[in-house]
Amino acid sequence: MNIKHIAVGFLSVVAGVMIHSCAEASAEGVVDTDRELGRCHDKVSLALSRLGGDGDSIDYTMMPRNVEGDSKEWHCRKSCAEEWCSGFWPGILWMDYAKTKDPEIRRQAELFTAQIGPILDRPVFDHDLGFLFFCSYGKGYEVTGDESYKSTIIAAADSLATLFNPKVGTLMAWPRNVEMFGGHNTIMDTMINLEMLFWAARNGGDKGLYDMAVRHAETTMEHHFRPDGTCYHVAVYDPESGEFIKGCTHQGYADNSTWARGQSWAIYGYTVVYRETRDPRFLEFAQKVTDAYLSRLPEDYVPYWDFDDPSIPDAPRDASAACVVASALLELSKYVGKEQADRYVGLSRKMLASLSSPAYRSDDDHSSFLLHSTGHHPAGSEIDASIIYADYYYMEALNRLAELNAESKEV
Ligand code: GLY
Repeated sequence: MNIKHIAVGFLSVVAGVMIHSCAEASAEGVVDTDRELGRCHDKVSLALSRLGGDGDSIDYTMMPRNVEGDSKEWHCRKSCAEEWCSGFWPGILWMDYAKTKDPEIRRQAELFTAQIGPILDRPVFDHDLGFLFFCSYGKGYEVTGDESYKSTIIAAADSLATLFNPKVGTLMAWPRNVEMFGGHNTIMDTMINLEMLFWAARNGGDKGLYDMAVRHAETTMEHHFRPDGTCYHVAVYDPESGEFIKGCTHQGYADNSTWARGQSWAIYGYTVVYRETRDPRFLEFAQKVTDAYLSRLPEDYVPYWDFDDPSIPDAPRDASAACVVASALLELSKYVGKEQADRYVGLSRKMLASLSSPAYRSDDDHSSFLLHSTGHHPAGSEIDASIIYADYYYMEALNRLAELNAESKEV
């Protein structure tokens, strides 16, 4: 081997190391938040034009919900029907407006948000009022400070509070399903709806909403989890004695399995409860349920839809759970010591890098941001689909990461 061969060999080893470290760097969580939020804006504009925005012929009563199969366009559902996801699309528009300051996006955000209000004109259907109102009016108020939005959120919180059973100490999830579950049913998803109660109590609403939210979080902490920190989807209680009857599932694989999105709601929910109460019990618990989730993640940081589906690794993923957790970890990182904070932020970056990679992001001609979420697997509904709440929490997480990056540059 002459000197030239040795030099070439040496250079290729160096190049190989460099290429390897670049690949590692992206797997290690390099997320260009500006580029990804720019891509979200392009998708929002594409979706609006497909919904009829160019000709101003949008039917505002219809909200994007999912993209399934070969379709690349949002399938919409009636905003005022028995639908829990109507707040996410307006929320996405508000987040996009906050970033772009595009007046047309604001106009669309206002028009879609206005469709949610009439839900309060009919009897309370279920606990989803938090998802419906806080993700739409809540994000809108954050951006505009519009006082009418504030009173709507407070009214929605009062309506949600009618589902609270003081004998049990939780909000009922589904009044229509009392017979099916055999009692007062509470689901992990409701942890997300507590944020609206806390917010209303702090912003001119009934102060008792704060106690109600804390009591719900305490009761849920006591009964809704297994010793290892994983949760049931549903907890059933005797409505009269308040006694815990059983833990079971509705959207998970089995009563004793860990449904990934349920666990993600627990992580996000207890992080918010700690923010609002500063009670160390809730911080410790948020970390415990987070560890239970993190310890079972596959290599690409996006969970299978249920951690215990026996068909893993052939089971579908749930990108939406990854989005919820990526966002929650960025908030949780603010409440812990530096070492733990770095770990949470690092993991959130890895989740977002994975979600932003070609494996999970949709192509340019597709209306959603992300692919590969799972809605209600046991019902055969929205399996391996694009779902609007995945996009909502993905955008929220990107915004939080962008904010954190900007803060660390300022220091
Ligand atoms: N029921 C809310 C969810 O599917 O996560």
